[in-house]
Amino acid sequence: MAYENILRDDRDGIAFVNINRPDKLNALNDATIGELQHCFDAITEDESVRAVIVSGTGDKAFIAGADIGELADTTPLTARPLAMKGQRLMSTIEATPKPVVAAINGFAFGGGCELALACHMRFAADSAVMGLPEVTLGIIPGYGGTQRLPRIIGKGRAMELILTAGRVDAAEAHRIGLVNKVFPAADLLAATEKTVRKMMSYGPVAVRMAIDAVNHGSEMPLEDGLNYEATFFGLLASTDDVREGMQAFLEKRAPAFQGR
Ligand code: COA
Repeated sequence: MAYENILRDDRDGIAFVNINRPDKLNALNDATIGELQHCFDAITEDESVRAVIVSGTGDKAFIAGADIGELADTTPLTARPLAMKGQRLMSTIEATPKPVVAAINGFAFGGGCELALACHMRFAADSAVMGLPEVTLGIIPGYGGTQRLPRIIGKGRAMELILTAGRVDAAEAHRIGLVNKVFPAADLLAATEKTVRKMMSYGPVAVRMAIDAVNHGSEMPLEDGLNYEATFFGLLASTDDVREGMQAFLEKRAPAFQGR
């Protein structure tokens, strides 16, 4: 599939995915959502990709939200499928079996904030501004924001941000746990790549199972989540990577994981 609204550039195991509509501050129109869905479906299957970094083209915006021009035309019959299409994309991103990190290089509003919330980690430029301003338009976050935001920053703060359409700068986003790290804007991509490469040096099967355990386990009662974790722990014991990881430690050398 040829993309018109996003760029995918694979370099040494990392897929760099950029939303590429800078003149519209990378707003997510329907075509962009479709291309991202195709891209993440392909990345999920692509064994040459070990991690993903998502960012926005230009130095102003990560993603300034869903495309308001398209939202203006919705009807009761089209709005629900529109939300579900966006939600499906966010769930695909969240379930990607390799680390997906958002490099938030500017405005991340509405659907852009929601896309960042679906990523496994969020690294922000010091110039980033984030928020869910949907109520100012008379709508609510529809790409998972009302569900993922409270799970990440807690119900009280999420309620405040959503109801007040609050905009938080990078420092405040970091303080409330909305982003994991903040870097000077010029260093954001290099610093994100450095962390991502570090994760890529660890056991890929373990990383995949850790993502699954956190994603699914955190939605279960504790006892079920613990059982889920123990099952993965048991499964990992059957991998070559576990033996290699332990052996390398004992031999005081770097492990050479094969991902099996
Ligand atoms: N959907 C569609 N187009 C958008 C957009 C969005 N969410 N956000 C920005 N754009 C477009 C603008 O319409 C403008 O297009 P134009 O040049 O053809 O008129 C272009 O991007 C630049 O935006 P502009 O508003 O001129 O930039 P700014 O620096 O003055 O303001 C924002 C930046 C992000 C504060 C402002 O664009 C904004 O508030 N956007 C909407 C954010 C939002 O509510 N998102 C949630 C949607 S559910």
